[in-house]
Amino acid sequence: MRNPTVLSSGFLGVNVEMLKRVVQEGAGAVTFKSIGPKVKSGHRNPTVLAYEWGMINAVGLPSPGYKDMEGELARMKEVGAPVFVSIYGASVEEFREVAEAVAGYNPAVIELNVSCPNTKAEGMVFGCSEKHSAEVVAAVKDVAGKVPVMPKLTSQALDVGRVAKACEEAGADAIAAINTVGPGMLINIEAKKPVLDYKRGGISGPAIRPIAVRCVYDIYEVVDIPILGIGGVTEGRDVIELMQAGATAVGIGSGIYYRGIDVFKKVCEEMKIWMKENGYKDVKKLIGVAHE
Ligand SMILES: Cc1cc2nc3c(=O)[nH]c(=O)nc-3n(C[C@H](O)[C@H](O)[C@H](O)COP(=O)(O)O)c2cc1C
Repeated sequence: MRNPTVLSSGFLGVNVEMLKRVVQEGAGAVTFKSIGPKVKSGHRNPTVLAYEWGMINAVGLPSPGYKDMEGELARMKEVGAPVFVSIYGASVEEFREVAEAVAGYNPAVIELNVSCPNTKAEGMVFGCSEKHSAEVVAAVKDVAGKVPVMPKLTSQALDVGRVAKACEEAGADAIAAINTVGPGMLINIEAKKPVLDYKRGGISGPAIRPIAVRCVYDIYEVVDIPILGIGGVTEGRDVIELMQAGATAVGIGSGIYYRGIDVFKKVCEEMKIWMKENGYKDVKKLIGVAHE
């Protein structure tokens, strides 16, 4: 990667043209919106809303299904930067099925969105369980060949470090953290109704940055594989903070809403200034320094 910024899953990454544009705007790598086993419509609008300190969304993982994405996946090389493919499933078998199909296109990484409910465990979110997360990782590693596998963990886990360790032991090549936080709810007090049609939604943006930093910090303490830190990044300082907590690279999603599509360029420029002022020449030297 030419810089440590990554477009996070769920923002603009629905096709190759969009991903190319984000690379032109400075992203070091880009992630497709999560792809599932079959066509799935999302929740009804309103699905996304910004409030004072962050965003709340209940898009409901709308997906065309991997078979309909084959045309886009086949063009991945045109993007001009590493492409991560995010996948989800409602069971270990579904994760395996989607992973096997996408691995054939040789993405830079298969990211596992384990923040979705496991229908075979009464809807418990995979990422809340060390055992279920590890099972998904092991099943995907089995079919991924040489493609690195990176589960994306949730702060909802009681001990995110233990989940990360279990994933590492199951063969994960990297860990991403975190997905949206919550669920939360906002009520329109004049309408006397929750603002989202689905009522509950995941929180993202600046409000969750301290939670992301803590999760990355906890994970860095227990694993040896690289960490992709995600959550609340809008400025260069935020990337540096997540890297000091232990991230090797940093995802940006909601930051696009706050700073525009060129947030990647802006953040990298801000990082350069901070590094110069603080005597850093190599970005890698920032990784994990808050633990020293
Ligand atoms: C509208 C919206 C859609 C999202 N879709 C996905 C998705 O498809 N897969 C996924 O793993 N994460 C998804 N996320 C979570 C983001 O990738 C990211 O983990 C989270 O928003 C925190 O980062 P941020 O504060 O930079 O936005 C979505 C988030 C939002 C706000």
